[in-house]
Amino acid sequence: MLTKENNERLCRVGPGTPGSELFRSIWLPALLSSQLPQGGRTPVRLRLLGEDLVAFRDGSGQVGITGAHCLHRGAPLFFGKVEDDGIRCAYHGWKYGKDGQCLEMPSENNASLCQKMRLQAYKVREKADIVWIFMGKGEAPELPKFPWIGLPAPQRLATVWLQETNWVQGAEGEIDSSHVSTLHKSDQGIKADRVHRTWTFKDPKPQLSIEETEIGFMSIARRRADERFYWRVTQWMAPMFSVIPSAAWPIGGRAWIPIDDENTYCWDFSYVLEGGLPDAFMESVDQGRSFPPEYRYEAIQLNNGSIIDTWAPLRHRRNDYLVNREAQSGTSTTGIHGVNDQDRAMQEGMGRIVDRTKEKLVSADLSIVTARRKILDIMSSEASIQKYRELVKDGTVFSMGPVDTVEDTSELSEFLKSLPQQPGESDQLPAIA
Ligand code: FES
Ligand SMILES: [Fe+2]
Repeated sequence: MLTKENNERLCRVGPGTPGSELFRSIWLPALLSSQLPQGGRTPVRLRLLGEDLVAFRDGSGQVGITGAHCLHRGAPLFFGKVEDDGIRCAYHGWKYGKDGQCLEMPSENNASLCQKMRLQAYKVREKADIVWIFMGKGEAPELPKFPWIGLPAPQRLATVWLQETNWVQGAEGEIDSSHVSTLHKSDQGIKADRVHRTWTFKDPKPQLSIEETEIGFMSIARRRADERFYWRVTQWMAPMFSVIPSAAWPIGGRAWIPIDDENTYCWDFSYVLEGGLPDAFMESVDQGRSFPPEYRYEAIQLNNGSIIDTWAPLRHRRNDYLVNREAQSGTSTTGIHGVNDQDRAMQEGMGRIVDRTKEKLVSADLSIVTARRKILDIMSSEASIQKYRELVKDGTVFSMGPVDTVEDTSELSEFLKSLPQQPGESDQLPAIA
């Protein structure tokens, strides 16, 4: 459990909070490049860390992300006209460049007034078909060097959708390996011949251990695999990045980006180190069986009234995730369609910010306890946040890869010796077929 104070500290991301400082220390994925097609004229509304923003691609092809409302009298720039060098407010025509500088005020003759007007704008980069945003002050670090970020397009897929909870609830689900055998048990899982599923479901009580790394920890699960041992290592990187192993399936990673205290963009990054994404995986994506869920791109009104343009899951809290009670009489625990739908049903059902003063944690929650402690340590002072900024400066700490392998050894120390020592080397780890 956490104290009320620590739960607040962990979850809140509004102005002046340590959470805000932490998330403003790194580049965050803001939207998919495809949401702003070249030559397109439709801006995208987004909300990050409690700030309403608008993204647009100007006539030169560059993306800008600025405050969502015009400085003059607050009209929404979403309805603005995208021009070669900026966006023009539809109300009285003030025009802003990508850096937020006011460029024109058609109804004013006072040029110096125009120069003085500057809308909030953030640094933006495009990489791996994603628009990244840096919301901090001062010099930005390098982009995180995730193992997939430099791969050619056919080897990776990024998707994003809305989760109606605080970011921590989603992030905790990533490292909560003991729920997998129960929550995600379904006909689909039992029939699958993928190695990790087979061993995961055959041995629901893995030996769990945690090995801390510079940026987070490895969550290590050892299961019996007949006469040998199935080792599965998930990387967790503060504050909320995960990389999850998979056999004969793309590697998956997720990021939980706070929209505000009560809503989150869930990002999934799937990739293969060679070849292309398997057809079976793309089929699973189309059917929303795992990550992402089945969803639709639309304008969504959040619970505070803000509107964002993103993917909305078809199964959500207002339709009970279309639960099928009949299916529960078979092998499915939930009768809910997809893996992410099942996760959201649990996490959103806890409430927007779960009350962690009331939890009864057990030994299987070790990863979660460790992650909370690490995040709270980083948030504990300006000096510790500064230390985190130094750590992430060149982006290499984010290059840790996952492990998924069957070995003879049952000894953790021996298994650890077989792991690559340097971030990035894990890219070469063979996945078991
Ligand atoms: S409100 Fe935007 S120009 Fe007046
Ligand atoms: Fe899950």
